[in-house]
Amino acid sequence: MDRITMAARLMIISDLDHTMVDHHDPENMSLLRFNALWESNHRHDSLLVFSTGRSPTLYKQLRKEKPMLTPDITIMSVGTEITYGNLMLPDNGWVEVLNQKWDRNIVTEETSKFSELTLQAETEQRPHKVSFYVDKTKAQTVMKELSYCLEKRGLDVKIIYSGGMDLDILPQGAGKGQALAYLLKKFKTEGNPPTNTLVCGDSGNDADLFSIPEVYGVMVSNAQEELLQWHAENARGNPNIIHAKERCAAGIIEAIGHFNLGPNTSPRDVADFMECKLENANPGHEVVKFYVFYERWRRGEIDNCETYIASLKASCDPSAIFVFPSGVEKTLHECIHSMKGCHGDQKGKQFRIWVDRVLSTPIGSNTWLVKFDKWELSGDERYCCVTTVKIKAKGSSGSDGYVWVNVQQKWLEGFEKKDDSTVLF
Ligand code: GLC
Ligand code: MG
Repeated sequence: MDRITMAARLMIISDLDHTMVDHHDPENMSLLRFNALWESNHRHDSLLVFSTGRSPTLYKQLRKEKPMLTPDITIMSVGTEITYGNLMLPDNGWVEVLNQKWDRNIVTEETSKFSELTLQAETEQRPHKVSFYVDKTKAQTVMKELSYCLEKRGLDVKIIYSGGMDLDILPQGAGKGQALAYLLKKFKTEGNPPTNTLVCGDSGNDADLFSIPEVYGVMVSNAQEELLQWHAENARGNPNIIHAKERCAAGIIEAIGHFNLGPNTSPRDVADFMECKLENANPGHEVVKFYVFYERWRRGEIDNCETYIASLKASCDPSAIFVFPSGVEKTLHECIHSMKGCHGDQKGKQFRIWVDRVLSTPIGSNTWLVKFDKWELSGDERYCCVTTVKIKAKGSSGSDGYVWVNVQQKWLEGFEKKDDSTVLF
């Protein structure tokens, strides 16, 4: 929660399905690229907000299926539910705003008269959202008639069509855009508005986001017809909104570059870390970089050469200790030695590593504690270690590189590996 009390340099509000998450990419490459970029260069001074049409139930399901980061704020059910932090504490003030001119019972009563509407799953029916499926060819007529009926009953609603199939009915003051406007107003009142805001989306329920003043916007390359059409009719010529060339999360990275919103080179796009410039050096970046290297090493995507091993050893304090989740202790040099023997052992297999919630805390003039969740996907299994690394700058700043002083890992409950002895880093 503390993180939200400072003014963010950048706030990204992103839709999930087909925007942050590419359902046509089983390797999740653009998502993993975004994750590495965010954790290495943006997490420490910026805010990540997910804004999805999904209910909390389906949102949590998606988080289990995809390598997603933990956002600072989660907006669910098409802008009708706002929660904060990892604990997902609800914003009750927002609920009160939504109660105005809203009566769920009248909505269900009126909609039941339309045979064209098929009710969505029970999980997707929420206190301020009633959702259906409707055929593309009938959508426009149904929306018009429905809006007339509900108005006659004294309600002020918003009807949104997305993905060429989903029809949501919400209070007029709801929606992804209104939820964002509410947050921006809240930050302003508290004296900490973000310096820049970037909204990202692909479908009809995202259109709302692009109509908020003073935000940058990216419609990913794979955006749906209904969003592109909304843009053509309402925002054509607005230089702050682009239609990206790249799909999904890669389109978000493209927009960060296009609008100059900060670093836009993901550590996953750096082929050789030995040649990696240190201009963005920070302790968090150090950790992300190492785990990208470690994944490539185990996947056999980089050469098994002594230079890498020597360079790794050089960035560890000779007496540095690694405390494993099992409690076993080894020196970091021993760990690097074991890693040497595992080069390419995950070749051709499903094996990915990503870090989440990277938080660096200075504990001296040139020393930091970097705490993060280290996730490992191996086949269908997922493991997570809550990891703390003590890191020291080699010189007076980080520009001469860093030295790892020690590492400690603990299992995140529910994500333990049965065979403790196979944990390497
Ligand atoms: C998500 C929700 C669904 C909604 C759709 C469009 O898929 O699960 O209920 O209709 O987004 O907003
Ligand atoms: Mg979407």
